[in-house]
Amino acid sequence: MAITLKTLLNYKATQEKFSVLTAYDAAFTTIMNHVGIDAIMIGDSLGMVIQGHNTTVPVTISQMTYHVECVSRANEHALLIADLPFMSYATPKQALRNAAKLMQSGAHIIKVEGGEWLTSTIKKLSKCGIPVCAHIGLTPQSVNKLGGYFVQGKTPQDFDRLLNDAKLLEKAGANLLVVECVPSALGKVISDTLSIPTIGIGAGPDTDGQVLVSYDILGLSPGKPAKFVKNFMDNTSSIKNAIKAYHQAVKSKQFPGSEHGYHS
Ligand code: KIV
Repeated sequence: MAITLKTLLNYKATQEKFSVLTAYDAAFTTIMNHVGIDAIMIGDSLGMVIQGHNTTVPVTISQMTYHVECVSRANEHALLIADLPFMSYATPKQALRNAAKLMQSGAHIIKVEGGEWLTSTIKKLSKCGIPVCAHIGLTPQSVNKLGGYFVQGKTPQDFDRLLNDAKLLEKAGANLLVVECVPSALGKVISDTLSIPTIGIGAGPDTDGQVLVSYDILGLSPGKPAKFVKNFMDNTSSIKNAIKAYHQAVKSKQFPGSEHGYHS
């Protein structure tokens, strides 16, 4: 059965965890469908893992629509969340135009990175019938402003600001919220406070769903992996089995463990 936003809300109500992975092509999408991954994120992380850039900043809307089409053609039942890339949603009008492109390419929900400044954009998209996944904490499109890929929400002021952003984004009409690279305690309080499902990446075990970059769980990304990454190829030589192990580990609350989280 197709996974929808309603399914994720039911998961939250019944405290069933849901699994999310990134995919950028048809082959991975097919495997993820067979394994039962709940939602697929066509992330602008493709700028780093596929295109070889140091950041997600160079990714364009036409590149995103191409990859959304590749995933969508193969997808049978996962919920498809697609990133609006850097500077494609600087104003509500621009966001609407580009979100329409992603939706018409096959996305079910679009994702935008940022806090309070996004409330008018989210209101506009929501009013026009476009579901929105907001993304706070470590927002990779702002890496040049943040000064690197660091844990966010560590000081009491930042903790409170991110919690407040989460509330404002939900109030503006966001349907989902990605929380990236924050102390586990913040992941928990945001997930407990909001009615919409949260998706954590380096935000501890208490978010409603978990997402990782698929290339990271397969040990394909160069360099030292982030603390929140687990290589699921460690005990298998099959990509399908590794993706299945990730799915089962999330559903059974075995992943992430305390060792994958940040503790202030
Ligand atoms: O771009 C991406 O793939 C993402 C997720 C990893 C959260 O934003």
